[in-house]
Amino acid sequence: MSEHFLEIRDVSKIYRIGGLIGGSKIAAVDHVSLTLEAGKPQILSVVGESGSGKTTLARMIARLIQPTEGEIFIDGKSTSGALNHTQMREFRRKVQPIFQNPFESFSSRKTVDTYLFETARNIAGARGKTQAHQAVEQALASVGLAADRVIGRYPNQFSGGELQRVSVARAMIPRPELLVADEPVSMIDASLRMNVVNLFKDLRDQYNVTILYITHDLSTAYYVSDLIAIMYRGKIVEYGPSSRVLKQPAHPYTELLLDSVAKIGEKWSEVMSLPDMETKEYGYSACKFAGRCPYVRDICRQVKPPLVDVGGGQEALCFKLVDYQNVEQQSTEKVQTHAI
Ligand SMILES: Nc1ncnc2c1ncn2[C@@H]1O[C@H](COP(=O)(O)OP(=O)(O)O)[C@@H](O)[C@H]1O
Ligand SMILES: [Mg+2]
Repeated sequence: MSEHFLEIRDVSKIYRIGGLIGGSKIAAVDHVSLTLEAGKPQILSVVGESGSGKTTLARMIARLIQPTEGEIFIDGKSTSGALNHTQMREFRRKVQPIFQNPFESFSSRKTVDTYLFETARNIAGARGKTQAHQAVEQALASVGLAADRVIGRYPNQFSGGELQRVSVARAMIPRPELLVADEPVSMIDASLRMNVVNLFKDLRDQYNVTILYITHDLSTAYYVSDLIAIMYRGKIVEYGPSSRVLKQPAHPYTELLLDSVAKIGEKWSEVMSLPDMETKEYGYSACKFAGRCPYVRDICRQVKPPLVDVGGGQEALCFKLVDYQNVEQQSTEKVQTHAI
């Protein structure tokens, strides 16, 4: 068995924006690396404001898009590049996506069980009606839904929260090892969000599934995650056990997020986005947070910040955490290897 269940190795996704002439490139995900230990199902929250690259990262992990650079491994096997039919099937069994809007995941003209049975046959490999039924029933039970409440019904006969449970059930049919859930509760009534979030904890504990929970809602992330990755403009700027990251943030951006949560109550979303700075910030060659950072020094605008291990599995990408002078040489080298 590989020592890592998931390994994201120096992955980037570059998009061209504007025309071919006079257009520019942005790194939606910019040299991201991350590993999750094998044999230990966990909930990893990826938190960041809109435009920070969360969806792009999630889509690369779920193999819905390919990285421009770098590679992603599951159980030590690369999932990037071409996969043959068998490898693709194996991947789909192991990794299942859950999308933001459950009403977009199901056609309004089909009963939702159509999708459940399709997944049971095509991905989970159920043979015959009985096996498919069993797989569907078990998956629905795993999310707390009775089959007769679901089978034969159309999407509009469910609430958003219930339908998201059905899409989690669909994802659970192949008994995946990893669920990639991109803002799964943002379209759901605030009062029902915790139900779905709690469900993730149950699935981790009962079905040993690792969950990548992508969110811009720090309060649910705090509640549900074992690990947390804070993204800013395509970079993971801080990573570690959620209790450490959210109680003793090492990166000034994480600090700022936590302050703003304290100010505006439970959530932060639109309040945090700065659309007019976005494209410019993507192009910063050194620290992308330099323009907003209260601790900014000259070096932050000139040299890429180092990844600093602050102990207890927590790390952050910031000059503030090191002796500025000593890292100058080392970081200059990093700039070269990290250049787009
Ligand atoms: N297909 C695409 N073409 C061009 N730019 C894109 C594309 N997808 C995402 N982007 C850009 O990449 C950045 C990150 O987007 P995204 O991953 O959707 O962030 P998030 O999910 O955190 O809001 C944004 O600036 C977005 O406009
Ligand atoms: Mg997104």
